[in-house]
Amino acid sequence: MATHLPLGLGIVAARGSGGVNAAERAAWLRDELHRHNRLYYVDNAPEISDTEYDRLLRELSDLETAHPELLTPDSPTQTVGVAPVAAFGEVRHRVPMLSLDNAFDEAELQAFDQRVRRFLAQDEPVRYVVELKLDGVSLSLTYEDGLLTQAATRGDGTTGEMVTANARTVRGVPLRLAGAAPGLIEIRGEVLMTRADFARLNDEKLARGETPFVNPRNAASGGLRQLDSRLTRERRLRFFGYTFGAIEGPAVPEDQGARLAWLREMGVPVAAHAEECPDIEAVIQAIARVQAQRPDLPFDIDGVVIKVADGALRERLGDTARGPRWAIAYKFPAEQAMTRMHAITWQVGRTGLVVPVAELDPIYVGGVTISRATLHNPSELRRKDVRVGDTVIVQRAGDVIPEVVGPVLERRPEGTEPVPVPTECPVCGTPLLYGEGDILLRCSNKRACPAQLLAGIIHFVSRGAMDIAGLGEKQIQFFLDKGWISDIPSLYELGRHREAMVNEPGLGQQSVDNILAAIEESKTRPLSRVIIGLGIRFVGEKTSIDLATAFGNLDALAVADEARLQAVPDIGERTAAEIVTWFADDENQTLLERLKAHVNPTLADLEPLGDQFAGQTVVFTGKLETMTREEAEAYVRRHGGTPAGSVSKKTNLVVYGPGAGSKLAKAEQLGVPLMTEAEFCEQYRPLESP
Ligand code: IVH
Repeated sequence: MATHLPLGLGIVAARGSGGVNAAERAAWLRDELHRHNRLYYVDNAPEISDTEYDRLLRELSDLETAHPELLTPDSPTQTVGVAPVAAFGEVRHRVPMLSLDNAFDEAELQAFDQRVRRFLAQDEPVRYVVELKLDGVSLSLTYEDGLLTQAATRGDGTTGEMVTANARTVRGVPLRLAGAAPGLIEIRGEVLMTRADFARLNDEKLARGETPFVNPRNAASGGLRQLDSRLTRERRLRFFGYTFGAIEGPAVPEDQGARLAWLREMGVPVAAHAEECPDIEAVIQAIARVQAQRPDLPFDIDGVVIKVADGALRERLGDTARGPRWAIAYKFPAEQAMTRMHAITWQVGRTGLVVPVAELDPIYVGGVTISRATLHNPSELRRKDVRVGDTVIVQRAGDVIPEVVGPVLERRPEGTEPVPVPTECPVCGTPLLYGEGDILLRCSNKRACPAQLLAGIIHFVSRGAMDIAGLGEKQIQFFLDKGWISDIPSLYELGRHREAMVNEPGLGQQSVDNILAAIEESKTRPLSRVIIGLGIRFVGEKTSIDLATAFGNLDALAVADEARLQAVPDIGERTAAEIVTWFADDENQTLLERLKAHVNPTLADLEPLGDQFAGQTVVFTGKLETMTREEAEAYVRRHGGTPAGSVSKKTNLVVYGPGAGSKLAKAEQLGVPLMTEAEFCEQYRPLESP
């Protein structure tokens, strides 16, 4: 290989006529890019900037385009993802991917150590390695003669899903192993999303009005199972190896420490922090150190894995059906902390639900500082009997809302009282009603309760609904206080108060005009967004789209009865009843009339245009790229068909785009005819119809 070429020099030289020939240059670029991948993902010691890396990659890609014969399967250009597959194949693991037993406290760790030593009939201590328990999804990579040939998820441990194309896009997965690789080796490890990438991807999702990921693990697991590997790549997933499956060839190093070092030599990233411990006491101390470092780690862990260090002892210990006898997972408890609760407030939400909220002295837990935590509902409050002045335990698990676990009774001050449950709305004074099996407390003053009004307007302007930028909770409250707005439709009459607004200190002409422009611009939102904005219970994004598609305008939706609503695929009894109740309400009717004077989108007129889909049910799934889902479904309806949200034996056609998942798989299984979006457009030309 032409590794003697100095870094960065050849970009010009390769294109020049003299110098290096294309094959040599491509080989050099491949090696160089592999080397930089290792420096970055394995050694954490990059030598060049991302831009520089991208330049080298681009050069290689250009060379391969010009000389397709130079493309090799392990080329670093082969990590960008390929066109979607219809479904994943199955892979039977050569060696099962077992699970691990769990320990939750010190006593269980001691018991594990004793089991190990009893089994080995050994009095002296056993050495262990403590590794991070990475909170992602496990992946098995098969290399034949050093080349990545297959990647599989764990599945049920015996059979997994073949996700090779996706795995190629995961950062840190070598397409070729470095050094003298065995004839066959399965490398096993975890695919995860770093906290930084998670935060960035969620910011981007929110900016696009999409639902954010719940936590990095879900994002990683969903990412690895995308049918379109280009979408997997966008998630910027990372791989870390920790063990092997089948191996043909050289003997595996004896010790776990040496095995991890071997993985790194082969170019596989290994999570830092693996620590060898001479005995179980040292393990317990090491765990405390990991726990202290946990908030500062670049990714989530849900515990540590403790493994017998010596490979020969592992052999003797063997496996049970569940997992190896030589390893155990120590699971961290959900992150908890103690703090003082100085008050309980009752928060009134958009739908009138009244929820007890603990007001706390600020406390750092699970990587964030919190000062409020939910107590869920009055019956939970009574059960936990937390009192104002109590020291309470708060808990944050994953990305869920922090909650109060309970009081620390030993620290309860004198003279506390159980917290009374209000009988009247804390905001508007209306008597509260119990509903839902007497668990949920609700304010029935739907229209005039200021808290519900505020929450309703916040919902209407939010990204997922009308997406009116620059209008946050503070502004809305301020405008309400000033009397400039009084409800949702009045937002569209805000312009009348422009003069007063501009003269308000702290607002200023520019920001007022920006807000007014954003409100004006929101008039162009599609029908489904307006329906979301109404804030009908159980009517979220998916249902709103279904309703928009089925009814085409607000008037038709407003007069639909329950039977007609339930005829819309995926709309059930409960949702249909809520919709009918909402539109039957006099005040809602007035609100709707006023709103329609400003915002009244319709799906392109709904008169029939043809009958190619007469009597047929068509499902669109995945991301559509050239048309909106509404357009696609409206097209089907206007040509006599019924767009549906789920696939069954009765489905006549499934049109799929990137990211299609279970619906596509089901369609395949049922033998429903399939089309890509491009094929659909080619055959029917939906975007050209008047
Ligand atoms: S070793 C025989 N090491 O935890 C199983 N697993 O609860 C060998 N995991 O399925 C697994 N970090 O997905 C091992 N450092 C680590 C790990 C780890 C995370 C996952 C893995 C496994 C699960 C078991």
